[in-house]
Amino acid sequence: MSVREILEQRRSVRHYDPHYKMESETLAALIEGASKSPNGNNIQATRYLVIDEPNLKNVLLPIAFHQQQVIEASALIVVLGDYQAFEKENIIHIHEEGFQKGYFDASLRDYLASAAIQYYLNKSKEDLKLELVRDASLASMSLVLLANEAGLHTITMSGYDSEQLKSALQISDRYEDVMLIAIGKGIKQGHKTVRHDVGKIMYTNKI
Ligand SMILES: Cc1cc2nc3c(=O)[nH]c(=O)nc-3n(C[C@H](O)[C@H](O)[C@H](O)COP(=O)(O)O)c2cc1C
Repeated sequence: MSVREILEQRRSVRHYDPHYKMESETLAALIEGASKSPNGNNIQATRYLVIDEPNLKNVLLPIAFHQQQVIEASALIVVLGDYQAFEKENIIHIHEEGFQKGYFDASLRDYLASAAIQYYLNKSKEDLKLELVRDASLASMSLVLLANEAGLHTITMSGYDSEQLKSALQISDRYEDVMLIAIGKGIKQGHKTVRHDVGKIMYTNKI
């Protein structure tokens, strides 16, 4: 299936086969693919917390306002941004890795690393959160596309209580929860949804 075909056919699926088990390797392959997504300065801040333990899913059910996909889908992925990724050590480490692999020379390594460090230096928490949300959202979409390509179904979700979720899963303030993605085998197609005509959403040079 082409990307265009997946985009045309994909729907948010809210009913899943509760007996369909996804192997950890399958999830890892999807997440590995999603990690190829563009991300600011390649600091790779997105994290994926896979919840497939039935007891935990049950705990999350009321936190996600009793949306049944939370317990029926094979897994629930909590997509997180890691504030520690902005730290100098991470930025230097990643650029050193690229240098060691021969992807760029020492001067480009140093230039890219110091530009990235400078870029984040005086940003507010709100600005850093926006950086995490941008990166995690792009990666989430990649994950959704890859899952649909593999014949699986997904629904991205913001319908949950963030504080309660972080408390139930013991997620520290080091992480920003960006969204949940339920993934599995759908048993009922998602309903069709309309989209604006492109003329309503596309502007050129001025809005
Ligand atoms: C960030 C985000 C959060 C969403 N949260 C929920 C949710 O909590 N529950 C739900 O049923 N659908 C949720 N959706 C799905 C949207 O309702 C859905 O994408 C939209 O209606 C378009 O339908 P489609 O995805 O089938 O094309 C969410 C979608 C996005 C992108």
